[in-house]
Amino acid sequence: MNLPTVLRSGSHSISPTAHYTGYVWARHAFGPPELATPAGHVMFHALRPLMAAGRALGPGSLEDVLLARHRLIDAHLTSAIETGRVSQVVEIAAGMSPRGLRYARMHGDRITYIEADLPGMARRKRSALASMDALGPHHRVVDIDALSEVGPQSLASVVSDLDATKGVAIITEGLLNYLSRADVEGLWARIAEAIGTFDAGGVYLSDLHLASENDGAVERLAMALVAPFVRGRIHLHFADAVEATQALQTAGFDTVALHRPPGFPGVRVVEALIAGR
Ligand SMILES: C[S@@+](CC[C@H](N)C(=O)[O-])C[C@H]1O[C@@H](n2cnc3c(N)ncnc32)[C@H](O)[C@@H]1O
Repeated sequence: MNLPTVLRSGSHSISPTAHYTGYVWARHAFGPPELATPAGHVMFHALRPLMAAGRALGPGSLEDVLLARHRLIDAHLTSAIETGRVSQVVEIAAGMSPRGLRYARMHGDRITYIEADLPGMARRKRSALASMDALGPHHRVVDIDALSEVGPQSLASVVSDLDATKGVAIITEGLLNYLSRADVEGLWARIAEAIGTFDAGGVYLSDLHLASENDGAVERLAMALVAPFVRGRIHLHFADAVEATQALQTAGFDTVALHRPPGFPGVRVVEALIAGR
């Protein structure tokens, strides 16, 4: 598939997928049109006929799965905030997702929401949010490289700016499938370690696709569609829920639940907790 230049540019080959999801969120009014990009519009409409074919084959098209996982991550984040367990959020690989804007608007200065992505995508997000006058001390966009173990773009450095006496939620959405298993395990260990530096502990939320739940025709079609946009790098790291739970526990999480959005057997939402001290 020949992609427009804008989709091939950027600091990382998977960043174009953020344009696609950004367009999906705006299309379903999860956020404002300012967070949808022309590149997202092109990608969405180029793939639309194939997505319609996918929907005809089974219970959920890629778009339906995206919406279901996004809503379920929201539900767990809302619960963590409303029960008072967390008041700070770091969303790694936030892309053009409107979640930070929605939560910042909903909770004002009662929470601090840090959106983080590779520098090119972070710059784009910062500029879009700044054009809406949406940024401030409680809603920021920072550069991160989820694979960095040390240095200014590491997670450890990003969380060091937060209040260590309050709880934190760390989110990844739409990132794990593009990383190798070793990179996912390394990232999970750094996330567990980062949450452990907060007195009140916190929660890690993410989508996760298990191999045994993604071996049908619809899932294979969805992966085949996404592959050209990410140069073929799509990984299903864990065979089943037991293996994924063990990997999260090995990474250092105290309690792990792998939730399923009702009606969508191909996607799980990880809710992994680190208890407070
Ligand atoms: C599929 S998009 C998901 C964006 C957003 N979470 C959403 O759901 O709309 C993947 C995102 O991962 C980001 N990304 C890729 N590699 C990364 C890395 N090493 N560190 C941080 N972000 C990364 C990309 O820039 C892109 O924004």
